[in-house]
Amino acid sequence: MLEIVIENDQPKAELYAELTSFAAALVDGEPDAIANMANVAALIWQYVPGLNWAGFYRVVDNELVLGPFQGKTACIRIAIGSGVCGTAAASGIVQRVADVHAFPGHIACDAESRSELVIPIMNHGVVIAVLDLDSPLPDHFGAEDERGLTLLIEAIANSLG
Ligand code: SME
Repeated sequence: MLEIVIENDQPKAELYAELTSFAAALVDGEPDAIANMANVAALIWQYVPGLNWAGFYRVVDNELVLGPFQGKTACIRIAIGSGVCGTAAASGIVQRVADVHAFPGHIACDAESRSELVIPIMNHGVVIAVLDLDSPLPDHFGAEDERGLTLLIEAIANSLG
């Protein structure tokens, strides 16, 4: 498998640019969305610091269904519009939540989670899945994480569904 070298003090914009290239190479030529989600979840889990959960929920029959992930076992089905993931799926807007306990309807899959970043994945103008990242650290995700991961997802969205 591919390897990349990430330095501890690397600027986040560089980290996400490298991860985007890596992710694009991983999914290149592979049509199976589940396999691609599995590798991208593993990539993010390995290289993005401070996570306790990283993975995907797919839109199946107008509901979010657990997809490939890294971390503790999680809720399997989430209604569109419910919790952080369901809000991202319903609105098509990134949800960057500094304090999950202050988010109305937050679904606590892992009690350790304190902050969360959910990126909707669009294909042909429709939300087909979300990328969900959790951190045990309060206010862990910043604007650079949101931007870097949004660009990563946009670069490979066609391979995720
Ligand atoms: N916290 C999410 C549920 C998914 S787990 O974090 C893996 C939510 O509120 O939608």
